[in-house]
Amino acid sequence: SFEKTLRPASLDEYIGQKELKSNLKIFIEAARQREETLDHALFYGPPGLGKTTLAYILSNEMKGNLKTTSGPSIEKGGDLAAILTTLEPGDVLFIDEIHRLSKQVEEILYSAMEDFCIDIMVGKESGNAHSLRLALPPFTLVGATTRAGDLSAPLRDRFGIVSQLQYYDIEELKCIIQRTARVMNTNIDAQAASEIALRSRGTPRVANRLFRRVRDFAQVLNNGIIDLKVTQNALDCLHVDSLGLDLVDHKYLMGIIERFKGGPVGLEAIAASIGEEATTLEDVYEPYLLQIGFINRTPRGRIVTQKAYDHLKILHQVDLFE
Ligand code: ADE
Repeated sequence: SFEKTLRPASLDEYIGQKELKSNLKIFIEAARQREETLDHALFYGPPGLGKTTLAYILSNEMKGNLKTTSGPSIEKGGDLAAILTTLEPGDVLFIDEIHRLSKQVEEILYSAMEDFCIDIMVGKESGNAHSLRLALPPFTLVGATTRAGDLSAPLRDRFGIVSQLQYYDIEELKCIIQRTARVMNTNIDAQAASEIALRSRGTPRVANRLFRRVRDFAQVLNNGIIDLKVTQNALDCLHVDSLGLDLVDHKYLMGIIERFKGGPVGLEAIAASIGEEATTLEDVYEPYLLQIGFINRTPRGRIVTQKAYDHLKILHQVDLFE
């Protein structure tokens, strides 16, 4: 039937990101009418919100192939040249973690994006070094990053479409879970889908992962019936709380509360004290805690809010004499 794979293949199948979706439809239609490739697009935001999925959809909608790579895996200029020269007209090149490209590689990308060509140095050893200009087929670069701020201005400026992906609301997540259930030939009742949605921290990737685990519990313990009770039990067993916070979130918040009096405290100090990578905390955990108002970021560091104390059921002693 229409929905075959977990990853939606068209914009019409893609749930959420309403504004971005309607803008992309216009850009796609316009490029098609002019028989041009779509302009380069940069998607940024927390992991799991659908950046890769969008690249896949854009390649489908523009009837091109998708080539996927990532910033850290392109080590030298030659690595990028090798990828660029295999592109066919209308292809989409997706570079994940594009903020992690080296300066040298980034500079090759500039002319590739702007003029669809690259300059290759030849004859270095023989002493008559010169560059050869190599034409590329017109293509669309789709870049993804969790940190738009880490992108150099020249690279950022070469994207004609720049968009921040937003966390999904409960209704959107519920639709995604119900769609995933259909694609996997599984039934899930509406209350169960809502419960998973509530605990998915605004993130489709989390929703789909939790759905699979809940399905495991239902299969083994409940004759395959996914109802509210088995769902709540499964999510409790996975240590995913009523707001979707997991053990790392709890460790992070409790770490700040118990060791740093609730903050303000710098990211590095928190990371060291709970044994997690600072970049993981910053890119994966903090964005959602900020979104739900459980932490604030100040010039002096992170602060745990009253809302978080309430959720954790911890009395917040405000020290009046400090
Ligand atoms: N699966 C993961 N993300 C999705 C989305 N945004 N729409 C539909 N299915 C999805």
